[in-house]
Amino acid sequence: MNVINLKNRTVGSQYVATEILKQVISKPNAVLGLATGNTMIEVYKTLAALLNVNQIDLSNVVTFNLDEYVGLSAEHNQSYRVYMNAHLFNHNQTWNNKNIYLPVGDAPNIELESELYEQRLGEIGSADIQILGIGENGHIGFNEPYSSFESVTRVVDLTPSTINANSQHFENIEDVPKQAISMGLSSIMKAKRIILLAFGKNKQQAIKALLEGEVSEALPASILHKHPNVEVIIDDEIFTSLIEDGTL
Ligand code: F6R
Repeated sequence: MNVINLKNRTVGSQYVATEILKQVISKPNAVLGLATGNTMIEVYKTLAALLNVNQIDLSNVVTFNLDEYVGLSAEHNQSYRVYMNAHLFNHNQTWNNKNIYLPVGDAPNIELESELYEQRLGEIGSADIQILGIGENGHIGFNEPYSSFESVTRVVDLTPSTINANSQHFENIEDVPKQAISMGLSSIMKAKRIILLAFGKNKQQAIKALLEGEVSEALPASILHKHPNVEVIIDDEIFTSLIEDGTL
């Protein structure tokens, strides 16, 4: 696991966007594992601009997202489908809707939808690059603490910490869905290359726990220690705190 301090969100986002750009230039049918959340907003803004500037044909690029809220339709303004369209897919004309995968949060049978999603991931093959944010409780995707390292795509219950963190996007905390369909930890680990990004004070504890190195289901992100190709991109604020407390 390589830990890289890229100073701030802007430089970190530029790095990840550039790595994705290079990937789709070198492999026009690249498979990208995508995430949502605040961390990714600047990544997608930069990526969308770079893709346009380079006039990249994205029609053969395949993307799949980590998760979607249960109960929200693809049109709901807080669905991750709407987020992806707003931040990335609407900005380039050549994305091919047939190659864009997100779980369907309002599928009539969400267990079946989860199974089919995992099946589709298997058919598509492993991601060339999987990008990840991290929850304050160490979740990746919506694999909350004590998720099995063997887990695959399934319906998960969100913890109060995650519901609280995500309530900033909803009018009332009661409106935050209590469940999501999330790729599992073993599904995420299939990626060839993983880049995890964390910026700002509220991610310090999760990154500290991750870098302390104990591999435990109590900290879902710690499974990444078992992966051969992981970069953890942090900013100066996190880096300095890790130096000060002796983690690094
Ligand atoms: C989102 C996802 C989550 C987020 C994490 C961090 O698709 O899977 O794991 O990456 O909750 O969210 P932000 O970036 O909003 O702090």
